[in-house]
Amino acid sequence: MRIVVSFDAEGMGAAAAADVAGLVARQPGLVLGMAAGRTPVGLYRALAARAAAGLDFSGVFLFGLDEYVGLPPEHPARFRRAVESNLAGLRTAGGLWPEVRPGADIPAACAGFETAIAARGGIDLQILGIGANGHIGFNEPGSSLGGRTRLVRLSSATRAANRSAFGSIEEVPEAAITQGIGTILAAKRIVLLADGAAKAAAVAAAVEGPLSASVPASALQLHPDATLYLDEAAAADLSRLADYKAEENLRRRLGCRLG
Ligand code: F6R
Repeated sequence: MRIVVSFDAEGMGAAAAADVAGLVARQPGLVLGMAAGRTPVGLYRALAARAAAGLDFSGVFLFGLDEYVGLPPEHPARFRRAVESNLAGLRTAGGLWPEVRPGADIPAACAGFETAIAARGGIDLQILGIGANGHIGFNEPGSSLGGRTRLVRLSSATRAANRSAFGSIEEVPEAAITQGIGTILAAKRIVLLADGAAKAAAVAAAVEGPLSASVPASALQLHPDATLYLDEAAAADLSRLADYKAEENLRRRLGCRLG
């Protein structure tokens, strides 16, 4: 895994945005996988600023990483809505989130989402956050490392962590549809962002711990092109931090870049 450590969350978002924007410039038809949540907001705002400054996203297609089940289309906590609002009107070729209408055949909708990804040639770059328990998407500890898009029950810890977007914990949906870990690993490149001390243990377990369904993000160890953008606080528990920083300096000196 490539580890890029920035001083703070703002630097983390800017470093990721510079690399993602470079990829969009080189590959205008990029298929981007989009995580929601707090962590990638700086990255998305920075991408929107680059679009306003002339970077063309009109060929870029978006796939949502996950979505709640049961929220009305206009609900502000819907992941699609939250991501699109952070992208501030950035014009793309469109997007598809793993959403289901009431009464829909959920397994068929999940299979249809996977088919839609395949029809676009797969996801070129999947953007991820990480839960304090090591989850990626809504793949909680214990999820199959080969799982595909499916319905999941949200743990009470995850519902509590996501509560701020709702009035009360009772309003946080109990179910979601998420890309599986197998779906995520099928992306050609993966970018995971993490900031803050609350994520430090999960980051260390994902990077340096054993590959385990107990830490879903450890599955990224299997991916040949995964980059972690961290701030110093989220990187603090990495035992080989000095080596990762030296490796990244070397890459930069030699002109290696994302993609
Ligand atoms: C969001 C998602 C989650 C979050 C994770 C971190 O689409 O799938 O895995 O990335 O829970 O959330 P934040 O960034 O809010 O700390």
